[in-house]
Amino acid sequence: MLEGKVALVTGAATGIGRATVIALANAGTSVWVNHHGQAELAQQLCESVDAFGGMARSVEADVTSPSAVAGMFERILADGPLDLLVNNAGIILEKPFLDTSEQDWSRVFDVDLHGVYRCTQHALRHMRSRGGGSIVNVASDLGFLGRSDYAAYCTAKAGVIGLTRSLAREFAADGIRVNAVAPGPIATAMVSPEHMSNEWMAKELDIPMARLGTPDEVAAAILFLLSPHASYFTGQILGPNGGSWMGA
Ligand code: NAI
Repeated sequence: MLEGKVALVTGAATGIGRATVIALANAGTSVWVNHHGQAELAQQLCESVDAFGGMARSVEADVTSPSAVAGMFERILADGPLDLLVNNAGIILEKPFLDTSEQDWSRVFDVDLHGVYRCTQHALRHMRSRGGGSIVNVASDLGFLGRSDYAAYCTAKAGVIGLTRSLAREFAADGIRVNAVAPGPIATAMVSPEHMSNEWMAKELDIPMARLGTPDEVAAAILFLLSPHASYFTGQILGPNGGSWMGA
């Protein structure tokens, strides 16, 4: 159902973004693989998509840079229209709130929330002029739950949820659907002993399904929301989360 469409996935060289690129390419979508400083990984991903007959091209841009994001959209739109956007790029910070500096706070917001604002504004201008499109933002269950020592991340992801719902209302009349996924703990580099304390891992697994999810399980939810199967979904936050959050 997504055959012949063109998608941009941000932060797509690894983890959930990478799985989303593969799922989209398998569905016949031509995918732009955004990365920041991961040219080799992005290129390898494009080659593996190419190997199964899919279409993926890499495009470098730091989502915290307004000019880099503008340049990325110029390049993409010079090539043709864009139908789908997945705002996936993100970083996490584990730090007690009282140790969180202005710089720490701003850095997390700049990637996790302002990056979504920047990419989405470019995409929406284009999609509105074309008369339609579909956007999925990658939030987090922590945007609902909160978590001690992760205030900046949780607050930025809660912002992504608010942005998703606001834009869903503002652009429904333009034929543009805006949804989000709010994954629970997923087995990627972000949730690894390298980045997370043992305490985090224990808390993360204290959920009904008591396991980490896989990037493919999140990609499936993203694909559904992007696709015409979800034609009556907008402003919705879907939770591939093992039961960590069951709220509305
Ligand atoms: P990941 O670390 O593999 O992916 C994040 C990607 O964002 C990386 O490829 C990274 O290079 C890219 N990125 C970071 N800063 C960037 C920037 N300034 N410009 C462009 N790209 C940038 O980890 P994962 O888990 O795949 O994360 C993807 C998204 O999923 C993130 O938004 C994350 O917050 C969200 N998420 C992850 C969960 C998990 O348990 N792994 C749970 C809930 C949400």
